[in-house]
Amino acid sequence: MWHLFLDHPLLVRLTGTKYACGRGGCGACTVMVSKHDPVSAKIRHFSITACLVPICSLYGAAVTTVEGIGSINTRLHPVQERIARSHGTQCGFCTPGMVMSMYTLLRNHLQPSEEQLMEALGGNLCRCTGYRPILASGRTFCVESTGCQKKRTGKCCLDLGGNDSSSLSRESDICTDLFVEEEFQPLDPTQELIFPPELLRMAKNPEKQTLTFCGERVTWISPGTLKDLLELKAKHPEAPLILGNTSLGPAMKSQGRVHPILLSPARISELSMVFKTSDGLTIGAGCSLAQVKDILAEQVSELPEEKTQTYRALLKHLKSLAGQQIRNMASLGGHVISRHCYSDLNPILVVGNATLNLISEGTRQIPLNDHFLAGLASADLKPEEILESVYIPHSQKWEFVSAFRQAQCQQNALADVSAGMRVILEEATDTIKELSLSYGGVGESTIGAHKSCQQLIGRPWNEPMLEEACRLLLEEVSLPGWAPGGRVEFKRTLVVSFFFKFYLEVLQELKKLVKVSVSVLGNSCLPLQSVDSHQSLQDPVGRPIMHLSGLKHATGEAIFCDDIPMVDRELFMVLVTSTKAHAKIISIDLSEALELPGVVDVITAEDIPGTNGAEDDKLLAVDEVLCVGQIICAVVAETDVQAKRAIEKIKITYKDLEPIIFTINDAIKHNSFLCPEKKLEQGNIEEAFEKVDQIVEGEVHVGGQEHFYMETQRVIVIPKAEDKELDIYVSTQDPAHVQKTVSSTLNIPINRITCHVKRVGGGFGGKVGRPAVFGAIAAVGAIKTGRPIRLVLDREDDMLITGGRHPLFGKYKVGFMNNGRIKALDIECFINGGCTLDDSEQVTEFLILKLENAYKIRNLRFRGRACMTNLPSNTAFRGFGFPQGTLITESCITAVAAKCGLLPEEVRLEKNMYKTIDKTIYKQAFSPETLIRCWNECLDKSSFHSRRIQVEEFNKKNYWKKKGIAIIPMKFSVGFAATSYHQAAALVHIYTDGSVLVTHGGNELGQGIHTKMLQVASRELKLPMSYMHICETSTATVPNTIATAASIGSDVNGKAVQNACQILLKRLEPIIKKNPGGTWEDWIEAAFEQRISLSATGYFRGYKADMDWEKGEGDPFPYYVYGAACSEVEIDCLTGAHKKIRTDIIMDACCSLNPAIDIGQVEGSFIQGMGLYTTEELKYSPEGVLYSRGPDEYKIPTITDVPEEFNVSLLPSSQTPLTIYSSKGLGESGMFLGSSVFFAITDAVAAACKERDIVEDFIVKSPATPEQVRMACADRFTEMVRNYCLLS
Ligand SMILES: Cc1cc2nc3c(=O)[nH]c(=O)nc-3n(C[C@H](O)[C@H](O)[C@H](O)COP(=O)(O)OP(=O)(O)OC[C@H]3O[C@@H](n4cnc5c(N)ncnc54)[C@H](O)[C@@H]3O)c2cc1C
Ligand code: FES
Ligand code: FES
Repeated sequence: MWHLFLDHPLLVRLTGTKYACGRGGCGACTVMVSKHDPVSAKIRHFSITACLVPICSLYGAAVTTVEGIGSINTRLHPVQERIARSHGTQCGFCTPGMVMSMYTLLRNHLQPSEEQLMEALGGNLCRCTGYRPILASGRTFCVESTGCQKKRTGKCCLDLGGNDSSSLSRESDICTDLFVEEEFQPLDPTQELIFPPELLRMAKNPEKQTLTFCGERVTWISPGTLKDLLELKAKHPEAPLILGNTSLGPAMKSQGRVHPILLSPARISELSMVFKTSDGLTIGAGCSLAQVKDILAEQVSELPEEKTQTYRALLKHLKSLAGQQIRNMASLGGHVISRHCYSDLNPILVVGNATLNLISEGTRQIPLNDHFLAGLASADLKPEEILESVYIPHSQKWEFVSAFRQAQCQQNALADVSAGMRVILEEATDTIKELSLSYGGVGESTIGAHKSCQQLIGRPWNEPMLEEACRLLLEEVSLPGWAPGGRVEFKRTLVVSFFFKFYLEVLQELKKLVKVSVSVLGNSCLPLQSVDSHQSLQDPVGRPIMHLSGLKHATGEAIFCDDIPMVDRELFMVLVTSTKAHAKIISIDLSEALELPGVVDVITAEDIPGTNGAEDDKLLAVDEVLCVGQIICAVVAETDVQAKRAIEKIKITYKDLEPIIFTINDAIKHNSFLCPEKKLEQGNIEEAFEKVDQIVEGEVHVGGQEHFYMETQRVIVIPKAEDKELDIYVSTQDPAHVQKTVSSTLNIPINRITCHVKRVGGGFGGKVGRPAVFGAIAAVGAIKTGRPIRLVLDREDDMLITGGRHPLFGKYKVGFMNNGRIKALDIECFINGGCTLDDSEQVTEFLILKLENAYKIRNLRFRGRACMTNLPSNTAFRGFGFPQGTLITESCITAVAAKCGLLPEEVRLEKNMYKTIDKTIYKQAFSPETLIRCWNECLDKSSFHSRRIQVEEFNKKNYWKKKGIAIIPMKFSVGFAATSYHQAAALVHIYTDGSVLVTHGGNELGQGIHTKMLQVASRELKLPMSYMHICETSTATVPNTIATAASIGSDVNGKAVQNACQILLKRLEPIIKKNPGGTWEDWIEAAFEQRISLSATGYFRGYKADMDWEKGEGDPFPYYVYGAACSEVEIDCLTGAHKKIRTDIIMDACCSLNPAIDIGQVEGSFIQGMGLYTTEELKYSPEGVLYSRGPDEYKIPTITDVPEEFNVSLLPSSQTPLTIYSSKGLGESGMFLGSSVFFAITDAVAAACKERDIVEDFIVKSPATPEQVRMACADRFTEMVRNYCLLS
């Protein structure tokens, strides 16, 4: 099917709308659709995800893309300006989608509420920013902006009382603005695009004729009248009706199903009618879920509460069902008819006794019940029938309806279990007259618990009834072991926990005690260090300068790799990957694929003129495959559609090989390792264990993590006519590595290959090594065919092929005194490296080197190994082992505290943290002064101690909800453990008009490196940034570069830029001295006349770093970044859900080059870390196939996951003489601070366990998903489930 723009973005040259998942799950492709609504006679504007919208469905609609609302060359729209100036964009790949969601909101609500803003952005994912600045920009349009930035008093909002502000009322907490709101242009609705008059005319005189669009494989028929629609349905009973396409579309994609005829009822107004009667509401099947939400909200505001119980329950779920865009597209009819087992609405409609109004030649009604939802023929639509509307009756007095759902995260996630529950009590009694319970997610379709309900009729609504109900429910709603999505015990527990929640709600109603507190999004304040008052106004260093590409991101004008226009004779490449985890390749049959139209060639290992990767890590598989997802060959075709069709026709036969290893445990059993053990030891650990008061042993399991950069891997290789030259445009953190790999693969010298990187849509370590593989395979294709090749991975392929963060299993044994002082710590850990070495050895080394975190423990032994398994190779990921490893150390501290009856924070600081100048386990000297300052500031700013007391008070009063609070220190070492990896170079040209072109070896990944480099150049040349430009990173201008990684990019490249600028300024000095009153242009002109070179290479030889693993000693890191984070959460013990109440972070950035960028890095990495530790879970089939291959199955944090209050501060006045202007690299360190949320959850769970007398087992599992939390908070319901399982 043809989708809006995305199938041909290069042809229409509208590249602002981005493609990042193709399944409606990320919002990168958001555009606004405007339609004339015949019922209200108004224009309706709504956001949609373009990747799911069939282009034919837009007949009569106006589509506005990001290009349509403003541009740098004409006029910026205020939304575009504000998101950029509020620093709400880093890599910029998500930004056009964010802009369009916000823009659409403003077209409908000039001054939206914060709730509306959150709703509008709930369907848009961002992997870089941590969302806080995006919200801050949106809030500037809200009715009452409550952001700190709003306050012109100069005081942080938290100073204004409430919320425990005692410690925040000092002058030092003055909040320096990251942006000045008064400078924003106002929102002027009169300047907006009008609805095209010709479309308005069309809408007012609607075409009644049937429209037919014929495609290659599909015919789209759009009748103009209901009569025609019914006739067409009778003629083509197998043809689906297509409304939102949010159910059909993803199914067609994933199952490759094609419907030759699609019937679109979009123009049939009868399907959008709404009728209100005295006993209920009839809603047209064609109404979108967003419209249904508005209609229900109106009913709720008009009718007495007793009549609107079902409507309220539906509204509750409509707020969290998918994102706004999907709710705008999906129809009520499509939702009901799709009968998804996870449906949020169907269980409520079932218990609410909804009826379906069907129409064909005649009309009839059928109940929306389990039989219908199970697809029983007797209860279903006939082939010629369509659903016209859904009737939902009012509720009555003494009737109570509730809805429940539990998903991996709050919004934009399919529920694990959803439920609708309704009870009618005998008037003025607590006796059950009628009871209906309906569950989603527990079977193949929505299931009702009829028997249980029947047996409970006549029972009073009391404890014995509850007990009996749970017993009955467990028997009746019996989940088979293969229940969709697994998690059987958790789901069973939810079945009864939801009923208990319902029981409590009804009881409270009965007692007239209902009060549910509504949480309102809190505000974040960002105290910044401010620049020295003597610093010249023109000097931009240390100021919150906007990202250089910010405005271009916001307007969609920023060009990413795949936005480059098609090159003459360009071909598309699609990769063919292994479907077996470990097998011998018996044969590859390409014949059928090669015969398909448009297919030009299939590239195999035999086509490689040079080296096919490394012996144990081949670019293209030969003879044997080691994991599902390993690349075997690549199809090259005229279009990507043709290439994708061809890969289905390639027949590969395999013979399974043994062993097949997936887990760390299996690898240990098989002695399957990628490299030798890494070990560090100090003191005498065995002796120390003999002298301690107590010993605890525990285990820590940390799951892997997908990079989920919004821009998937992509490369364009253009062969040139002469001398085997190649131009490569690639999304990478390491173009020199791509260049080198292509050179060895093609067997041509490196000097013939030029790699260009304009910008990268997020990398996070995932674009260090892998792009070279894709670049090399594409280059082989380009050389073989003699034509340019474009290779762009789909999200599914990207997730399948590229690997991610290494999962970890760690065992610890800790010996300590009763006062909490740790005397001996022995940690052994294993990481899952996947099938090839990649970076696994270095990750193991870094993990071991960093394990001690902030603690001085005299007797230590750290050992680590990288396991070889039959999974795609894991690779570099922000933090490089530190976020996984240090979770063991911190878990160990928590265990010691629990054993000693102390608070974890006491065991952390008072008993074990470094306090004076000392040496690490590898004998590197350092001073912990700044670490202690961060810790103390964090305690102070978060009012930790008073909040700890409040948390305890809350926990005493609440059994089913528990709060937890945790503060975590961090000592993070920056850089690579090798001097040669710290070298950097820059090339600065001054042109005769005075303009300056800066080039350096760093790549712009969204981290703002180019902005920082121009800040450096501006200070050094004493010239405004407006004179300067950075075009791209290219191997032709700065050769032999090091990967932009390890948090050190701005440090080392900054030094190189500084060096180049100082060389140039030195050359200019005599001229300036001679003409001190002259302008820059005068001096440059004079320099040119005097034949002074206006171009200079800057070079930085790098920080010294080495490590001797034999001796276990060295100075592997140039410096440390210190920080501390405090988080508070509230968990729901019945469902396992958690709410992030507040996070405070103090980070030591020393003298930040750009505090807005650095805070963005801290926030973004913190939220990414929070994802690692709470929601992001990779799921594999027993055969080693990755299930979680898109945003629907893999949950990165959304805007609703950001802590309600989120405060990030940079530690004032710390210094480090080593680095450029005393700044520090902050790219990775925040990641680990996300664990403060994890430990706050553990703290809350510990409180629940203590109250329930559950003995702690010291087995820690990350992520702390709702399932983990729920099952840890064992209670009578989990007990019931376990007993039931034992008995059944
Ligand atoms: C990213 C994403 C997130 C989602 N999240 C959630 C979630 O959190 N909770 C949840 O419950 N659901 C969720 N969904 C599912 C979503 O609710 C359904 O896909 C949607 O409601 C289907 O409506 P549609 O109009 O798009 O149906 P379409 O895809 O257009 O059609 C679906 C089916 O319905 C039939 N049909 C449609 N209208 C009629 C009619 N009038 N008469 C007869 N047959 C008809 C069609 O023939 C077709 O077979 C999500 C979907 C996506 C893509
Ligand atoms: S690309 Fe359309 S929602 Fe992700
Ligand atoms: S800025 Fe949002 S994904 Fe990069």
